[in-house]
Amino acid sequence: MNQAKPQHVIVMTGATAGLGAHAVQRIAAQPDTRVIIGARGRGRTVPRGVEVIPLDLASLASVREFADAVMGQLGDARIDILVLNAGIQTSNNERRSADGYELTFAVNHLAHYLLARLLLPRMADHGRLVITTSETHDPAVTPIAPKTLEPQVLARPSRSGFGSGIRAYTASRLCNLLTAQSSAALDEVKSRQITVIAFSPGLTGGTSLGRDSSRVRRAFVTFLMHTVFRLVGLFRPEYVMGTPERSGEALAEVSLGAITPPPDRIYITLVKGELTFPDPSELARSREAQDRLWRESAAMVGIE
Ligand SMILES: NC(=O)c1ccc[n+]([C@@H]2O[C@H](COP(=O)([O-])OP(=O)(O)OC[C@H]3O[C@@H](n4cnc5c(N)ncnc54)[C@H](OP(=O)(O)O)[C@@H]3O)[C@@H](O)[C@H]2O)c1
Repeated sequence: MNQAKPQHVIVMTGATAGLGAHAVQRIAAQPDTRVIIGARGRGRTVPRGVEVIPLDLASLASVREFADAVMGQLGDARIDILVLNAGIQTSNNERRSADGYELTFAVNHLAHYLLARLLLPRMADHGRLVITTSETHDPAVTPIAPKTLEPQVLARPSRSGFGSGIRAYTASRLCNLLTAQSSAALDEVKSRQITVIAFSPGLTGGTSLGRDSSRVRRAFVTFLMHTVFRLVGLFRPEYVMGTPERSGEALAEVSLGAITPPPDRIYITLVKGELTFPDPSELARSREAQDRLWRESAAMVGIE
């Protein structure tokens, strides 16, 4: 009798646009693979066979509904690979999520934190959790990146103004790295040999990140990328702009396990098209900051 081969189950956010859309094409093309993505809105174009479940990361209720729906659809099956790639970059920090938190912090960090907490128990032994972050979390790369961590201030900032959007973005990416390190340190993750990776695609042009900004701001950023960043890129490789195709390919490689960081490293960053394994920022490596963010995020999303 012909028995159906067990399927590799992959759950992903941020697969509908930009580099994630390129990654999911490669992931879905793997044999014996079942791919479930969380996406906003209806009628999203996805590769053949990919299942879409509604998810708006700007609402914690939607995150819970998504996690319930994934677990319901999987039945006894386990998640082999969980890819948390969605993200936004806004022009200021004035927008709020459905739960009243600053939008970039809520979407990029808090929603993914909750999703990881809800789905980790349903992951397969030897599974893989990939959280997209950015090298902009690091003050050594981006001077305005955070040098201290105040989760309550990030969640409910009292000051806004010029530069507050990019500051919120870099801080949310620090939160992704802290969450990845805390997840990797969990007894459950270690004993079940789940690999945790924080993936930075590097500066990637031609995606829709920042699409909500005004036309003037987008034009300014494009100008910066094609002039100042090009110049800086001659000395700092992190400023050399990559393509969504290569960044998506790298995310797929990292997610599918074709690339694994050296022992005791979880941060992978794409620099000039090559995957590298640098140290994250000093703050991202702080055990105290990791624990604090984990604790305060749990309280914000209403779990232990
Ligand atoms: N581009 C870069 O230079 C760069 C550098 C470092 C890190 N990154 C990170 O890489 C990831 C992908 O970026 P990208 O440049 O490919 O951006 P993108 O083209 O804007 O794609 C972002 C993805 O996130 C999804 N998303 C955003 N808000 C959501 C929400 N509330 N609920 C559900 N899904 C939501 C989008 O869904 P929709 O299709 O519904 O909009 C889309 O699939 C992001 O996390 C980004 O921060 C990008």
